[in-house]
Amino acid sequence: MSFVAYDRPVRTAFIGLGRIYDLNVRGYLDNPEADVVALVDPSPDRRAQRQQDWPEAATFASVAELAASGLEVDAVESLLPAPLHADGVVDMLDRGWHVNCQKPMCNDLAGARKMLKAAEANNRVLRVMENYLFYQPLHQLKAVVESGEIGEVVGYHMKMVGVGNGGWDVPWSSFEWQMKQMQVGRGILVFDDGWHKLSTAIWLFGPIKEVRAWIGVTSFGEGIDLDAPTVISWEHENGVRGSWDITLAPDMYLRSDYYTNDERWEITGTKGFARVNRCTGRGIQQPSLEIYADGEMRGYHALDDDWASSFRESGRHWLRWLQTGDGPLLWGGDEAVNVLRFALAAYASSEKGGIGIDPREVT
Ligand SMILES: NC(=O)c1ccc[n+]([C@@H]2O[C@H](COP(=O)([O-])OP(=O)(O)OC[C@H]3O[C@@H](n4cnc5c(N)ncnc54)[C@H](O)[C@@H]3O)[C@@H](O)[C@H]2O)c1
Repeated sequence: MSFVAYDRPVRTAFIGLGRIYDLNVRGYLDNPEADVVALVDPSPDRRAQRQQDWPEAATFASVAELAASGLEVDAVESLLPAPLHADGVVDMLDRGWHVNCQKPMCNDLAGARKMLKAAEANNRVLRVMENYLFYQPLHQLKAVVESGEIGEVVGYHMKMVGVGNGGWDVPWSSFEWQMKQMQVGRGILVFDDGWHKLSTAIWLFGPIKEVRAWIGVTSFGEGIDLDAPTVISWEHENGVRGSWDITLAPDMYLRSDYYTNDERWEITGTKGFARVNRCTGRGIQQPSLEIYADGEMRGYHALDDDWASSFRESGRHWLRWLQTGDGPLLWGGDEAVNVLRFALAAYASSEKGGIGIDPREVT
């Protein structure tokens, strides 16, 4: 793709103005690199609510209406419900817009191929944003591990507990499309939120060669089947093994400004360990990153560990990228396909009783 960087603010449309808009918008507020020109959502309430942030932006009930208006748009922030990503993003690329798409990329490889093809055919950039790669405690974790401070990496572990009480309000309409996703085997824990954990694994230790999974189910009523308890383990091409356990604690309260998800990453080295204690929610109330080595525990007390900041940094990175074309997209379309393959390998393994599956061979 031949990309010509912008030498002026990027004229941007937000497509989908729901819950996650509140965080995605942070990359755009007070950012001279963007000019938010349009807001699109079928809900008049959402349009009116978000117009307060961008009084000069035009509002539309659909992408087709925006396109028909003749308003010039360079790029879109695609915040659609996940089941609409594949077709919705192809439509946006076909209209000649660069797309910064929320995760998960889409449900299957056929959809991903369509998206990549549309980007190529229209000579447009497709990014599948991954805000976790911009979360400062995880950045510092990677830096500490790469510095050799905890010795050679011998393995690592991620933990995620879906907690029932606390956090911000999530509208019922957001759960409705999540329930549709559950019904087609793309659960909220492994696939939707889990997408981030799979991403961080690839980001930390590179390509994956084998995945073994045991995906469970807990039902909370008709059509509300959450994909836990679950255990997924894998081996990277570099030989490092990782594992991730997902559990549910429906009666637990977790203080959180966002979703009530208790998360941890712990990397063990030959000399010590490094652990990120929390991310989305305010789980363990210790420094967000702790390092144990040589008999001493060291805590990072001054990292920006507000999860929302990872969205701000991811959005700024995208806009800066469009102005320079420099550096990795985090993630580009092909890299997002590797995350999708990782998830699909976990599903294939679980269906076959936990046997090892090579994500590069998933079809
Ligand atoms: N990065 C993260 O940590 C994170 C967190 C939450 C959600 N997400 C992702 O963000 C995306 C949106 O999630 P959400 O929680 O904001 O969902 P949501 O249901 O709250 O919002 C979706 C919005 O899209 C609108 N919409 C529906 N169809 C549309 C169409 N055809 N054109 C334009 N707008 C349309 C809806 O009216 C709604 O306002 C999903 O892909 C989700 O997985 C990412």
